[in-house]
Amino acid sequence: MDVEDLIKAVLRGESQPAEELQIFAANVANGTISTETATRWLKAVHKHGMTTADTVILTEAMIDSGARLTWPAGPPVVDKHSTGGVGDKMSLILAPALAACGCRVPMLAGRGLGHTGGTIDKLESIPGFTCALSPDAMTAAVDVVGCCIAVQNDAIAPADGVLYALRDVTDTIDSVPLITASIISKKAAEGLQSLVLDVKTGSAAFMKTVDEARALAHSMVQTAEGLGIRTVAQLTTMSEPIGSHIGNALEVLGSIEVLQGEGSADTRELVVLQGAELLAMSFEDVDLAEGRRRMELVLTNGEALDVFRAMCVQQGVEPLTAKTLISTPEKVLGSSVHQTTILAEHSGYVSSYDAMAMAQLARNHGAGRFELDDPIDTHVGFLIEASKGTNIAKNDPLFTFHHNRPLKESELVSLKAMCTVGESEPEHVHRLLEVIDFASTKAS
Ligand code: URA
Repeated sequence: MDVEDLIKAVLRGESQPAEELQIFAANVANGTISTETATRWLKAVHKHGMTTADTVILTEAMIDSGARLTWPAGPPVVDKHSTGGVGDKMSLILAPALAACGCRVPMLAGRGLGHTGGTIDKLESIPGFTCALSPDAMTAAVDVVGCCIAVQNDAIAPADGVLYALRDVTDTIDSVPLITASIISKKAAEGLQSLVLDVKTGSAAFMKTVDEARALAHSMVQTAEGLGIRTVAQLTTMSEPIGSHIGNALEVLGSIEVLQGEGSADTRELVVLQGAELLAMSFEDVDLAEGRRRMELVLTNGEALDVFRAMCVQQGVEPLTAKTLISTPEKVLGSSVHQTTILAEHSGYVSSYDAMAMAQLARNHGAGRFELDDPIDTHVGFLIEASKGTNIAKNDPLFTFHHNRPLKESELVSLKAMCTVGESEPEHVHRLLEVIDFASTKAS
């Protein structure tokens, strides 16, 4: 295998020799390709791109570098991936809700990336919850509970682990084919039949413009479909925070409220949207309307909440703690030392929240990391008391920042600028901008 052949093909915009690309991925995983050589290939792909056919071959080779979950005949095996947002707690609600709707959900998730939160960090704010599951432990958990949420690990797509770390330090993260192969290899290794992708766009998303988000969505949908996974992408807006809770433990709290049939309508709507799409792809007798109905049902009748409790117990939480968690979550999750509430300076309508500014302040206070081994402060975050569009009077509470170290004067100033209040009611913008679906068939 000669990496030079691959690089030459990339530079010419031609297809890379399939067999050599497969050996390359295997050798990346087993450490026999030098960092210098792998970096030259990464830089070539980052600069010149890669054909969709090659992206499928690379993704397959990355899957083959590790374990692949296999499933006996039975309920549909489904999952979703989000490109990351602020207040994006969907996975915590979606996995148990889909299990309650009769699916198997072997979810692999990540930690926070940049300003965005990560599902694993959120779950680890529950005392005893462990996300370090081997492939066998994942299958066993899905057999017992219907779903599990595990952290990405070396057993699955190890070639991605090596390339991702290298991309991080060689400025080659933002490449559509490399992001595609990285994300889809891990999802495909779960042995899925259906996948929904939440591709976010806006000021607090990684893809700032709709065009960028659409290009990534097309590439991911084509690649996943090329691997035989029925896949739909939803392009959604990510400039305003999702729902009323932001931050690790606070998002667990907000998720439980939705699982209790209450909580933020914004959060619930996104979960229902994603779940309905997966149910419609997976079951012969389900269309989007019926998918919505089933999702709404399990969120209101307590079935999804009970699966969430069972998932917590299966993943290490004491049964009594899990029981308390789903009834009075604040007793289990605790809270921060300081809580600073921002009041409205005048009456009017809440017209916007600046998700990026909120995420950055929370990260500075420990809700996210700057270095790989930074500890997370689980209690840091925001609780939004007056959601966008609320008609408020002067001195009504807008939102509360939860923090453990005192605020600096400059932070208080920026806190006050995070929410704007206008004279007229803001237009309601639906989060869903576009659906990308190339097949319109059922999963097989
Ligand atoms: N998340 C991943 O897992 N991989 C990427 O390349 C980007 C985001």
